[in-house]
Amino acid sequence: MKWTLCVVLIVALNCGVKGQDKQVPPKIISTFNKEYFFPRGSSLANASFSCKAESDPISYEWQKDGVVLENNKYISVNNTSGSLKISWMETDNYGTYQCFANNSFGTSVSYPFKVQEARLSSFPMYAVQVIRCTQFEHCVVKCRDKPTCIPDSQCRVEWKIGEGTKNNIGVSKRVEVDGNDPLSEPDEMEPMLVFKKIGKAQTGEKGVLGCSFSGYPAPDVEWISPQNQTIKETLGKYEIRDFGRELTILHAESEDEGYYFCKGKVKSKFLQEKVFFNVTSAPVLVGNNQMQDTTVPVGGNATFHCNVSSLSMEFPPSPPMWKINGMNLQNERGNYILSQSSRHLTVTNVQVDDTGIYQCLSKNSEGVLLKEAILKVIDPIIIRERPLSSYKIMSEEMLNLAVIADSNPSLILQYKWMFTDLQGNQREIESNEFWKTSWPTNNNLTIDVSQVSNPRVVRSLTGFYSVKIYHKYDQKIIIMSVETATISTEDVDQGTSDTTTAETDIIPTGLFIFPVEICPSDVAIKGAPCQG
Ligand SMILES: *[C@@H]1O[C@H](CO)[C@@H](O)[C@H](O)[C@H]1NC(C)=O
Ligand SMILES: *[C@@H]1O[C@H](CO)[C@@H](O)[C@H](O)[C@H]1NC(C)=O
Ligand SMILES: *[C@@H]1O[C@H](CO)[C@@H](O)[C@H](O)[C@H]1NC(C)=O
Ligand SMILES: *[C@@H]1O[C@H](CO)[C@@H](O)[C@H](O)[C@H]1NC(C)=O
Ligand SMILES: *[C@@H]1O[C@H](CO)[C@@H](O)[C@H](O)[C@H]1NC(C)=O
Ligand SMILES: *[C@@H]1O[C@H](CO)[C@@H](O)[C@H](O)[C@H]1NC(C)=O
Ligand SMILES: *[C@@H]1O[C@H](CO)[C@@H](O)[C@H](O)[C@H]1NC(C)=O
Ligand SMILES: *[C@@H]1O[C@H](CO)[C@@H](O)[C@H](O)[C@H]1NC(C)=O
Ligand SMILES: *[C@@H]1O[C@H](CO)[C@@H](O)[C@H](O)[C@H]1NC(C)=O
Repeated sequence: MKWTLCVVLIVALNCGVKGQDKQVPPKIISTFNKEYFFPRGSSLANASFSCKAESDPISYEWQKDGVVLENNKYISVNNTSGSLKISWMETDNYGTYQCFANNSFGTSVSYPFKVQEARLSSFPMYAVQVIRCTQFEHCVVKCRDKPTCIPDSQCRVEWKIGEGTKNNIGVSKRVEVDGNDPLSEPDEMEPMLVFKKIGKAQTGEKGVLGCSFSGYPAPDVEWISPQNQTIKETLGKYEIRDFGRELTILHAESEDEGYYFCKGKVKSKFLQEKVFFNVTSAPVLVGNNQMQDTTVPVGGNATFHCNVSSLSMEFPPSPPMWKINGMNLQNERGNYILSQSSRHLTVTNVQVDDTGIYQCLSKNSEGVLLKEAILKVIDPIIIRERPLSSYKIMSEEMLNLAVIADSNPSLILQYKWMFTDLQGNQREIESNEFWKTSWPTNNNLTIDVSQVSNPRVVRSLTGFYSVKIYHKYDQKIIIMSVETATISTEDVDQGTSDTTTAETDIIPTGLFIFPVEICPSDVAIKGAPCQG
């Protein structure tokens, strides 16, 4: 009964949720494509962008080419929802857009993206061209002066036969983009390469490899990966189309880069061709703790790491450029230290107004990297009352060492007591016959030798005592020495046998391990709910 109550109490006091800590800058979580395409001079149903950030209260702002967007006839921005809508495209609306989200603790910025014109020009007019094809050989008809199409991925090429727009040429094992079926059939013709197409994709995107063979009967095409595996149609990974002539690699990763083989097979004869697939990427961050949110007490140092790198075989990225709340760093207080490579930024001697959101930007030939991390500056742990630095103790006495400390209310202070004996052996103090730590907060230690008359026992309790007062982000250590006093018959202060000692008597000492077991200390420190 008492036991359960105890546990419940400990959980409630040590592990209770102290409320979500909202005192942080927002962080934009919306992601955008690198570019969007809309035709000019048409009404648009889908030209809308939503910018969302974490942590309230938030006000949003949209900028185009660095200028704040205002509502007008064709543009509506909502500074509370973060939405941007363009209902009609004009020349002025094409450009680079970026969203900003702020609250009183800082400003987060989104990746910039481009809004570009979608367009399709037309074929030039010319006379009919005659192409001669030889029977049984492959025959290529080129698509001349193909019109400009932006974005290219949205355009399709269709071939027609005869006049008008009706008679589409279907792609088959024999006809690929275009072709001429032979009139009579030879027995067998070895495969010959008609074309191959190398591929390129950014990480996470898709890339296409192409390979086509002529021969008779129409060759089968098989693909082999750089890891020497035969590629099969695989959901979410590989798509094989056009009778094997086209291999699409979905969600490319750097491991997908390399030489693929396409194999054209006619009965027992085959021909193998190498096709390169290049996986590229905007700069990436390499290593641990890159651009991590951090909480630092006033006066401390905060370091952000932005170890940018390009994929191997690509041009190195530009050295990182740093911003705070979307604005260039002004080193007025001289407290920003950039490493030589600009890959590490240290904010020294942080003050409350250094709280904000720090941005690291870098570019390479393939794109831009923008990473954000929050710096939150909190009050340091303040010691209100502490024990003296040295004490004398003798048998039949009690000594109380007490600490009173304050910290940011969202963080729970913990205390850890250590003892180093005269031989230099150190150990953590746990309640026992002579040592009692207060409960539920172990900020007091009582050394109780009131029942001890043996001076050797008393001596064994002398040495250095220390207490570490800490939470996840800060710590203070106090060290005290305790020596034996020369035995005298001076009055023993009975006043020190206070309620703390009385209480610890009731509670079985074993129970002190419960806060640790029920709620692992890191959970308790964070103030997260304890799932005991
Ligand atoms: C907008 O809609 C048009 C037509 O429905 C479509 O072609 C285009 O890809 C869409 N654009 C975006 C950015 O979703
Ligand atoms: C948000 O927009 C409203 C009108 O749309 C305007 O009155 C208000 O000042 C704006 N607030 C901010 C913070 O820009
Ligand atoms: C902005 O968005 C909010 C939340 O979605 C909505 O309540 C408000 O009416 C919108 N304001 C305007 C001017 O459209
Ligand atoms: C956010 O930024 C806008 C415009 O830059 C400004 O008017 C507003 O006061 C800022 N809001 C906060 C909470 O700082
Ligand atoms: C690939 O596999 C083939 C047969 O499966 C083998 O002959 C060849 O040596 C392998 N090549 C590599 C590079 O592993
Ligand atoms: C930084 O990135 C490079 C690769 O560009 C890597 O070799 C190095 O180990 C990284 N450094 C750290 C500290 O992670
Ligand atoms: C912060 O960094 C500066 C410069 O490197 C150093 O002198 C100082 O001791 C550091 N302060 C702390 C609390 O680590
Ligand atoms: C892959 O593409 C990148 C970017 O265009 C280029 O720098 C690199 O040389 C290419 N890699 C190979 C192996 O061709
Ligand atoms: C021991 O700690 C409690 C709070 O946990 C405090 O009220 C009490 O005054 C402390 N005892 C002494 C002697 O400081």
